[in-house]
Amino acid sequence: SDIPVITIDGPTASGKGTLADEVAHALGYAVLDSGALYRAAGLAASRVGVDLDDGEAVAAVARGMELRFAKGRVFLAGEDISDELRLEVSGLRASQVAAHPPVRRVLNQLQLDFRRPPGLVADGRDMGTDVFPDAALKVFLTASAATRAERRHKQLIAKGISANIEGLRQDLEARDARDKTRSASPLHPAQDALMLDNSAQTIDESVAQVLEWWQKRR
Ligand code: C5P
Repeated sequence: SDIPVITIDGPTASGKGTLADEVAHALGYAVLDSGALYRAAGLAASRVGVDLDDGEAVAAVARGMELRFAKGRVFLAGEDISDELRLEVSGLRASQVAAHPPVRRVLNQLQLDFRRPPGLVADGRDMGTDVFPDAALKVFLTASAATRAERRHKQLIAKGISANIEGLRQDLEARDARDKTRSASPLHPAQDALMLDNSAQTIDESVAQVLEWWQKRR
């Protein structure tokens, strides 16, 4: 495909989503939050009482999902599930269903449909390695676990949800460990990915870095 793709992969709470949104906005590109698809599949399956360890059953639910993305919100059969998808429990469910190859096959197909002119910025765990191996620019975003836990803590406090930083750090490290060690599309940088550690960067600095890399590629 001639339609350019920029992939941003990395661990939990590394700031992929914000970076992807800002880069897409700057370039006028579409954006794919692939984690939202895994979160939606986990939510849809748990709502109908499907065992999240049953890959075929979850894949069947995922295949039948009526998902719509509009104005930064996610709708499941017309219901706005965006807020529910952001909950920690949705992230944990997502990483549970993401370990099943049949689920990944269904969701990969949906992800390819997001590629449309003039371009796409896709964030997740395997965007550069599996879903868009021909991406024009691949970024692997990292930040220390302490930094990521602190950011997640701030987000929750801002929403009026109390949380314990140490507990958050343990949760995100457990989820990262599962994402890195699973056999189906484990989290790892693509061979041709550029590494970006944003622990000491503002969002604007990270955006500027990615846009600079992009200018050099063009
Ligand atoms: O990025 P986010 O936190 O929304 O992702 C939730 C979970 O979905 C991740 O922990 C991971 O297990 C899974 N995921 C994945 N592949 C992707 C995106 C997300 O396996 N491309």
